[in-house]
Amino acid sequence: MQNEVNTLETVILSAKDVNVAEIAAEYIKQGQLVAIPTETVYGLGANGLDETAVAKIFEAKGRPQDNPLILHVADSADMQTLCYNIPPSAYQLAQAFWPGPLTMVLPAKDFIPKRTIAGNTTVAIRCPDCAVTREIIRLAGVPIAAPSANISGKPSTTTAQHVYHDHAGKLPLIVDAGPCRVGVESTIIDLTENPPRLLRPGGVTLEQLEQLLGKITVDKAVTGSIAGDAVVKAPGMKYRHYAPQCQVVIVKGSRQKAAQYIHTHITPTDRVLCFAEELDLYRDCAPLSYGKETDPQTLSAGLFAALRELDKPGITKVYARCPEGGGLARAIQNRLGKAAGFHVIDAEESL
Ligand code: TXA
Ligand code: MG
Repeated sequence: MQNEVNTLETVILSAKDVNVAEIAAEYIKQGQLVAIPTETVYGLGANGLDETAVAKIFEAKGRPQDNPLILHVADSADMQTLCYNIPPSAYQLAQAFWPGPLTMVLPAKDFIPKRTIAGNTTVAIRCPDCAVTREIIRLAGVPIAAPSANISGKPSTTTAQHVYHDHAGKLPLIVDAGPCRVGVESTIIDLTENPPRLLRPGGVTLEQLEQLLGKITVDKAVTGSIAGDAVVKAPGMKYRHYAPQCQVVIVKGSRQKAAQYIHTHITPTDRVLCFAEELDLYRDCAPLSYGKETDPQTLSAGLFAALRELDKPGITKVYARCPEGGGLARAIQNRLGKAAGFHVIDAEESL
């Protein structure tokens, strides 16, 4: 299978091209891989009900078999087709946030292949806020299983070019809808527990969820490292993730103190990943900005492209600045934290 999947000609088609949804849906029905755009990140999609097609996703990504996939649906009504014992909160959330960057974990019906859900009894489902992708799902007539389209462990894919870089030759089609608006993967909430559990922070914030549902447990994998052999609710959260090849260190503290710390420790092969407002402070160190601190949406949209830019041989360490607080900043703290193995230096205390 390795040879078969690595010799395909990979075509990038614009989401605006006529018939692109039909072409993509046809590939999905044939059991092939198609990269699909979403508002969060690009996904590596396949028919979620076809074990053989789903196996191609795991192989292309080098994804551990114990890490289940999200099923993407075109409409919230599809929730009843795939899940049972659906609590009222699921309908409330779908009403409030779908289509959008929210994934719900619910009890899985028996016909969903074990490979898709990695042998679990639950399934993660989400309805993406991307018209062309919902149309592909509708035309294919099946839910599309799609992890983020990066090679496992690498920063996620927020452009069609990122997907091409990681997977050219392994799939026939990438559907290009431009850079992803949200830029970090969906929020995941497990509704099989009471209170519900936040497994991954994302574009729908904890505050928004709490406003609707009341108390929510935040899984410990959201804010810290998890041992490789630990049993966790979202297996994807325990692996080193999102990381460039070099070490990443988060430097926390005021702008001035952080700059002082970084200037004291930086070597010529290190880089600085900072906010746009800080570029002037690092003029001599080839700084890279990933967005504005005052506008977290720009940070989430820019984070993975920046981490990919820093994924180059010759770079030894990245000193990264990370926004504080709640809301969307939580998702950025989680992704940067994981890229850094949650290695944080407090510049206020470490000079
Ligand atoms: O925004 C997104 O969610 C993107 C786009 C493509 O939709 N997809 C995505 O998929 O991020 P992936 O595979 O990279 O991350 C899915 C996460 C993993 O951490 C996985 O362990 C977790 O969801 N997951 C999947 N099914 C689960 C389940 N039944 N219970 C708990 N966690 C689950
Ligand atoms: Mg992923």
